[in-house]
Amino acid sequence: MKISGVDVEFLKQKYNTPLYIYDEEHIIKNMNGYLNNFKSNKFNTEVLYASKAFCVKEMIRLVKQAGMSLDVVSLGELKTALAVDFDMSKVYFHGNNKSVEEITCALENNVGTIVVDNYMELVTLENLCQKFQKKCNILIRLNVGVEAHTHKFIVTAHVDSKFGVLYESIEYNNMMDLIRNSNYINFKGFHSHIGSQIFDLQAFSAALEKLINICKNFSQPLILNIGGGFGVKYVDEDKPIPFDVVSKTLIDECEKSLEKNNIQIEKLCIEPGRSIVAEAGYTLYTIGGIKKTPNKLYYFIDGGMTDNIRPALYQAKYNADIIGKEDMLKSQIVTVAGKCCESGDIIIENIPLPKAIKGDLLITHTTGAYGYSMSSNYNKALTPAVVFVNDGKDKLVCRRQTIDELLEREL
Ligand code: LLP
Repeated sequence: MKISGVDVEFLKQKYNTPLYIYDEEHIIKNMNGYLNNFKSNKFNTEVLYASKAFCVKEMIRLVKQAGMSLDVVSLGELKTALAVDFDMSKVYFHGNNKSVEEITCALENNVGTIVVDNYMELVTLENLCQKFQKKCNILIRLNVGVEAHTHKFIVTAHVDSKFGVLYESIEYNNMMDLIRNSNYINFKGFHSHIGSQIFDLQAFSAALEKLINICKNFSQPLILNIGGGFGVKYVDEDKPIPFDVVSKTLIDECEKSLEKNNIQIEKLCIEPGRSIVAEAGYTLYTIGGIKKTPNKLYYFIDGGMTDNIRPALYQAKYNADIIGKEDMLKSQIVTVAGKCCESGDIIIENIPLPKAIKGDLLITHTTGAYGYSMSSNYNKALTPAVVFVNDGKDKLVCRRQTIDELLEREL
């Protein structure tokens, strides 16, 4: 099997396994899919990459080259952007519990917009703005109460969500009072994010409609950011909506709703993460053991929940192939299990695969989002290397962690 002209067996020889492989061209195509279609002649538009999905310097360089903006949620993601000289005016800083250190770093580096989650955070921001004599653009994260049909752990907009504030709640009104009296805080609009891996665009339309209704109460045109969450194809049952359709539908809905309500907005933003990187990513493993139990056939791989926690955490489904046997009869029903000391360390349950032998390579598809970024060192597993491939060339963008690196922090 080749990815963008590069043989994966060659990648195994060169970088070993487990290995995260990204098709660079695919990432670029995805970014352009949004950038070219999320446009309106009625208001400005902005597409942000939600870096939590996959954040390494080379990825953020691609985002920069494409001309996209960036969503960061932590000092680490912010510093990654700084490390590649990202235009800070295009950075949106999210998070429900930003520390003084994080806000200070954002102010010092003139981050374009801080998305404020709650009143207490706004007070901290106001105090730090005063201290550093800096002004700051903000969006308020609103909980619009729209619940998208997705896994309950990744729905973020139900009424008791830890994210955002309810419109006209006491928390919200306190924020607006502070803004009115502030010489530093420049209120620009609202943000909402209704969940992740969503296939139903009506959920976004409902959220947008709520935001636009709220905009009617403001005299100035506001910025609306409707978050990310666009679904991708992990397995055949998943039917993602193409980028151009997502983009054009949202723009269309927004234009119609603005016209109906006879108001204007300054800008509409979206911030996809998963849909930019998921399908461009693969994880390559070596099968180290095969075991039959009364009811199961296990293929044991040399990674697992430490490089992909999603099956254990969300019962996420994946597709896989055995390298060199892609066209062979899938005669076995297999459970692909990782090597962690944990029964739940199962990457794929009951997948039809060809007969494999020890040493075969197994590749999982669509692992580009929230795999590397949610990886862990459980059982002192080492974070795998990340390699980008493009048009027959491979490029190491993050080397494999070493045992020494793991141990050197421990006193
Ligand atoms: N914007 C905000 C404010 C978000 O909270 C998120 C994701 C995104 C954008 C990007 O959403 P995306 O387009 O990637 O769906 N770890 C989970 C996903 C958590 C998503 C958290 N927020 C998973 O692996 O499925």
